[in-house]
Parts: sequence; C-alpha cells; structure tokens
Amino acid sequence: MSEATDMPGAKVLVVGGGGREHAIVWALAKSPSVTEVLVAPGNPGTASEPGCRNMAIGATDITSLIDLAVAESVDLVVVGPEDPLVLGLVDRLAEHGIAAFGPSAAAAQLEGSKSHCKDFLLRNDIPTGRAQSFTDSVIALEYLADLAAPPVVKADGLAAGKGVIVAETHEEAAIAIREILDEGRFGEAGAEVLLEERLHGPEVSILAFCDGRSFHIMPAAQDHKRLLVGDEGPNTGGMGAFFPSPIADAELLAGIGRTVLAPSLAALAAEGRPYRGVLYAGMMLTADGPKVIEYNCRFGDPETEVVLPLLESDLYEILVACADGSLDDVDIHWSADAAVTIVMASGGYPVSSSEPVPISGIGSAAAADCTVFHAGTATDDGAIVTAGGRVLTVTAVRPTLTEAATAAHDGVALISFDGAQHRADIARATAEVRV
Ligand code: AMP
Ligand code: GLY
Repeated sequence: MSEATDMPGAKVLVVGGGGREHAIVWALAKSPSVTEVLVAPGNPGTASEPGCRNMAIGATDITSLIDLAVAESVDLVVVGPEDPLVLGLVDRLAEHGIAAFGPSAAAAQLEGSKSHCKDFLLRNDIPTGRAQSFTDSVIALEYLADLAAPPVVKADGLAAGKGVIVAETHEEAAIAIREILDEGRFGEAGAEVLLEERLHGPEVSILAFCDGRSFHIMPAAQDHKRLLVGDEGPNTGGMGAFFPSPIADAELLAGIGRTVLAPSLAALAAEGRPYRGVLYAGMMLTADGPKVIEYNCRFGDPETEVVLPLLESDLYEILVACADGSLDDVDIHWSADAAVTIVMASGGYPVSSSEPVPISGIGSAAAADCTVFHAGTATDDGAIVTAGGRVLTVTAVRPTLTEAATAAHDGVALISFDGAQHRADIARATAEVRV
C-alpha cells in the first residue's frame, strides 16, 4: 500500500471470495501503487488484509458490481472467478469507461462452453484430444458403444470444476451421460455433453498474462484435481498445488507458447475478441507432445495461492498493463524459491456442504511462516468458522519444493476443524512419480 504521505494510489475492486481472490488481494495490498482494495464479496481473510474492505455484493450480481465500481470511482476491477466474466462484467465495465482485468464475455466463452473451446482448438490446429458433443443421450450412448476405450465425459458449461468425469469403464461413462443429459445433474451447464478421448500424462497449469496482443507465460504450476491421496476419488476444484513445476522447463514453456498460446491469442484477436487477462491452459504432457485439456479464462485456484507469493514484480502494474495493452513495457520477475499450497476442505466436499464448525490454529500456522488464504470461511461472534467447500489453503514458500512441502504440511497439521479433509501427498508425489 502507498503511505498516506505519498501521492494517492489506486483504488481497486476485486471480484470474488475464494482462496484465489484472497491471494490476489494479499498481493495487491503489498503493492506500493495501491491505496485501497474493495472486495466483493470477499471473505474474512480478505477483510483482514491492510487497506481492504469487503462489500456485501455477490460475484455474479453484475448490476450491483457496476454501481459499486462507478460510485467508488475505482481505477481497476480485477475479476477472479469465471462466472462474472462469462456473464459479461468486463464488457459492462467498459461501457462505463472502467478498466478491468479479465476477458470479455466473447473471449471467456473458451471456458464457458467446452464444446466451443474444442471447436476453437481444432479449427486453429492447436494440439488437443478428439471429442464429440451431444445433446441427446440416446445418440451419445450409441456413439459410446462404438468407442474402444471409455471417454472422459464433460458437461459443456460451467460446473465449478466438477463437471468432468474421467470414466474407467463404458458403464461409468454411460451413467455420467444419463445423469448429465437426462437427470440434470449440472442443470443448464449439462444441456450438452462432450465425450473426449482420454489422454495420459502429467498435467501442468500454464498461466499467461495477456494484453490482447502480447503475453507473458508464468512458470508452470501443478494442481492436484482429485479429492484423495494417490489421485483417487472424484475431481474437485483442486486440492493443492506447487510452483514451479520441475517437469516444465523453459523449453517446454516456450514450445507451449509457440504452439498453443500464440496461435490462440492471434485467432482470438482476428475474431474480434482480443484476450485480456489471464489465459490458463490446462495441459497434459502426452507421449505425442503437450495437449490442451481445457482453457480457463482466469487465474487458477489453488494455483494462484502458489504463483502470486513468488511474483516479485508489482501485481497492480501488471494487471493494469494487461487491461491497457502495454504488457511489453512491464518487467515481470519471479523469485527462485518454491511454493506449495494445501487445501483444507469441509466434510462432504465436493459432493455436499456441511454445517459451520469452528476453526482453530490459523494463527499457529501463520506463526510457523505459512500464509493461510481463506476460501469457505465466515465469522460467527468474532470467531472464524467454516462455510463449506474448500475452506482454507495453507501456503509455504521455501528455497526448495521439498522444504516448502514439509512446511505446508506442518502448517496444515496445526489447523483443525471437524470433518476437515486434505491430501497428505500434495507436492510429495515427486516429478518422477507423476511422469
Ligand atoms: P477440466 O475441467 O476439463 O480441466 O477437467 C478436469 C480434470 O479432468 C483435468 O484436470 C484432468 O485431470 C481430467 N481430464 C479432463 N480431460 C481429460 C482428458 N481428455 N484425458 C484425461 N483426463 C482428463
Ligand atoms: N485449479 C483448477 C482451476 O482453477 O480450474
């Protein structure tokens, strides 16, 4: 934050209330260019950052967000989650002359519809798995019967990271198809399903800052999508991450820049929807080379909780440069340290929500030099309680990945709440094992 005696700094509105948004707010609060950060709706963690104020407005309440941004004359709106992007928040802000970090609704369709994304990738010759989309379960089941191997079944629309079923058998795939298309398991998001060729290999999250023309690839992070140790159990939004990934060296990143990001950004610009914000390519490193599993149109969660702690440059300057097309003018530096974050989720996640329960030990983890980012927390009579879903992420930054993993796991051991779930193998399955 800029000192009171300095020139007044910027006022920023961050939209969202998860661990990703806490990490963004935490990084902006350290920026010498920023005076005040408003967060809509935020969480108890964002409220505790210096110079930050939570506003009781939901992340998809587009009209109220616009009113707030106008009334507070904010200098920049940073959109954390995908839903407001797909709903056109950035387009609406532009109509009011308010700068925003995040893509337009047209560009955010890359995440908003998996079949749209697949068509985009295929018509631009960007490496990805083969897939077919269906709205009728009878036709989908006929297609399934002809496949040699069970496909990955994906609800087309936004499903909070839970709309993907990696079927082990044809029967599992058939059940998923019926649940999505006939039983409305994901509501409107499941009006269409994609049956996608299953790819094999380690996964890396490639995030790039983009300003409509230029891009800066961040070092790669690795997420752990499955709920349980050993990559078992259902897919989740992500149970922990580490950064940088030892399996994604500079050559691999440059190759992904050349074959994936550059042609995608050029095609988006040519289609009249230049991409500004973070473009996040979920990549699988297959025996046939890196392939795109999906595009996300925003920072990853929990990747952000390991990426931003290692960013040495001023996040605000970078986000403004993405918004105004001047990314080439900004130097972006990364620490040589490593970071690990471990998600603590509430009982029942990702299937059901549980009643609020008190959380203890957050202060002890902080005293052990971990940063605790809040996600699904709330306050009850001044005490921090769970509010369902992913509750907290515990990040440790240390000189090596091994040390960061040990410190993050030690930090998690200091925090407790009834029903808490976390994975004991985050960043502990070594790169060799994951390959
Ligand atoms: P998505 O939401 O598309 O990223 O999918 C969630 C997770 O499902 C990915 O991170 C992968 O672990 C897995 N997945 C998605 N598509 C495929 C695929 N074609 N082959 C293998 N695993 C996949
Ligand atoms: N961690 C995966 C995601 O943000 O989609």
